[in-house]
Amino acid sequence: VVDISTFYGNTGMFTLDRGFTSTASCRSRITYIDGDLGKLMYRGYDIAYLATKKSFLDTAFLLLHKELPNKDEYKNFLLELKKRSFIHESMRKLFDAFPDNAHPMAILSAAVSALSTFYFDHLDMDSPDQAKEMAHRIIAKIPTIAAFSYRYSQGLPIIYPDLDKGFTENFLYMIRGYPHHHIDLKPIEVKALDTIFTLHADHEQNASTTAVRVVASTHAHPYAAISAGIGALWGRAHGGANESVIRQLELIGSVENVDKFIAKAKDPNDPFRLMGFGHRVYKNFDPRATILKNLQKQLVNDLSIDSELMEVAHRIEEIALNDEYFIKRKLYPNIDFYSGLILQALKIPKEMFAVIFVIGRTPGWIAQWLELKEQPDMKIARPRQHYLGPLERTPKYDI
Ligand code: ACO
Repeated sequence: VVDISTFYGNTGMFTLDRGFTSTASCRSRITYIDGDLGKLMYRGYDIAYLATKKSFLDTAFLLLHKELPNKDEYKNFLLELKKRSFIHESMRKLFDAFPDNAHPMAILSAAVSALSTFYFDHLDMDSPDQAKEMAHRIIAKIPTIAAFSYRYSQGLPIIYPDLDKGFTENFLYMIRGYPHHHIDLKPIEVKALDTIFTLHADHEQNASTTAVRVVASTHAHPYAAISAGIGALWGRAHGGANESVIRQLELIGSVENVDKFIAKAKDPNDPFRLMGFGHRVYKNFDPRATILKNLQKQLVNDLSIDSELMEVAHRIEEIALNDEYFIKRKLYPNIDFYSGLILQALKIPKEMFAVIFVIGRTPGWIAQWLELKEQPDMKIARPRQHYLGPLERTPKYDI
């Protein structure tokens, strides 16, 4: 607690909580985490149940509508998302304006913000029906924008959504397919990506969700809030972690080099850390990592993947899980370790990893926005500060 009193009579005691490690910014009924027990639940449903028995769209519906959908509700939800998955044709010009090598996250953030220029008039912020319509629109359009961003960044012809495909299958098709050409996607590939989406769908008040809530608390347009969330997610301390996992595995290069890098990670005088190990909240195993670990094994088996990178990853995992340094500090492989490996196995380019995170997290961001709007005691986010600068300086030169 710090005293922020000044001689201007502005008095008061405030908590100085850098990084908000012990400040709750809101009351929420969406996601529950118990880091010690390794538990994660969305609206009371265990993440393992949702990831293994339900689809990403079931989970998105649950986050938005508070209940899992029945058969008809699911069918209508899917149809609604398919109908809304196309973007306004004029928006394509926006993509042309970016340099070829622009990062897909930069394009995505700009394009989502630009959606408000096309759909602003359609939204009465106080109408629950219109808010739901907006929620569906944004979940439907983000994969299309994400895929277009990638295709433009690679100079590849863009691929429009295929209404005959499911949500996740369609996204993989828009990334990996070619116009008018059949794409052979294995069910395990679709299942793996769908599970990654589900596991990322919400994680209570993390940095990007907080960014969404802060912007939304000013009553800004929801597209602006989601665009802010994308910006926050882009950082390597948040959505960029699984990309770093793969970059580090590539740097290690071969199984013979693993011991050398493990020694570096354990050296207190070396800042090197094993990417994809440890978690601020989960001091037991990350429940999402457990699910992806099994899925990654199945994927490697079913697709007969035999790569040096997977061998390096496997060796690191084996050593770390049995090494006293990692056990003592509760440094288990986290979700990013396995999601990085799965996305690599799905031949998704590294610069798209954070974009995949955005697609998964969007229903969570929107659910948090809808919850904020429902709360009558909602306040604009406005933290205080502990001012350390000078007071009442005398000018040096009196000209
Ligand atoms: N490799 C080697 N040593 C590590 C690692 C690691 N990945 N992570 C933590 N340690 C060590 C630290 O050096 C420290 O050792 P010491 O007690 O001897 O000084 C001890 O473990 C505790 O480390 P902290 O940084 O205090 O742990 P914290 O809980 O604050 O950090 C974090 C968690 C940031 C995730 C950390 O484990 C890390 O940097 N991991 C690697 C990056 C990564 O995978 N990030 C993704 C996180 S998951 C997510 O965002 C969804």
